[in-house]
Amino acid sequence: MESMRLDKYLSNTTGESRTKIKDILKAGRVKVNSSTIKDAKTQITPGEDLVELDSMPVIYEKFRYYLLNKPAGCVSATKDRLSDTVLDFFKGENMDGFFPVGRLDKDSEGLLLITNDGMLAHRLLSPTGHVPKVYFVELDREIEEKDIVKIEDKIDIGDDKPCLPAIVKKKEENFAEITIFEGRFHQVKRMFAAAGYEVKYLKRIAMGDLFLDDNLKTGEYKKIGEEEISLLRKKV
Ligand code: URA
Repeated sequence: MESMRLDKYLSNTTGESRTKIKDILKAGRVKVNSSTIKDAKTQITPGEDLVELDSMPVIYEKFRYYLLNKPAGCVSATKDRLSDTVLDFFKGENMDGFFPVGRLDKDSEGLLLITNDGMLAHRLLSPTGHVPKVYFVELDREIEEKDIVKIEDKIDIGDDKPCLPAIVKKKEENFAEITIFEGRFHQVKRMFAAAGYEVKYLKRIAMGDLFLDDNLKTGEYKKIGEEEISLLRKKV
């Protein structure tokens, strides 16, 4: 693997900002191949040099994966002039090169994968990937059986092609769950609109084998491990 500066190596692996890493180096907490190193510019070759922080080996991970419970009011982008972005929730972490995989509307909530793994993102978002995505919605009225059938069966939302078949489950009162296998612009809202319903609230609760954890409050995130990601990778 290509070499990189020690501060970048530590920032990528620990998720700490470069400023914090500078302090850690200054405090003499880092060893490279058993020697204490304070110079942030020292070149490291991942997989060859042994880097230790507080005497614990720091293994380089090229990619990191986070699951964010996106709140309403922020945009699924890396930068925005006016609104908070989904990256603003990662305070104090080095998020250089990270981006959300796909989009949730500004007023939507729920599961959003944030990573720096462009290849996985590309495969998950590919129109032929057909990764199932599950949304919990509140509608303006109780959904009727005939409309469930209509939405499930290749509903036309005004695009070149009708939607792929979907699965709709009625929940109590005005609530429902819908599973779709593609990701068009405002797709869920447009599918319900085409059947005469307005989506009042929308939350993504699953994508492939990733599920929104009840313990993860809106605005909170958690790091997800390689095992969960390999399950997802196998699907695409
Ligand atoms: N479909 C929508 O209409 N909005 C979202 O945010 C996600 C899916």
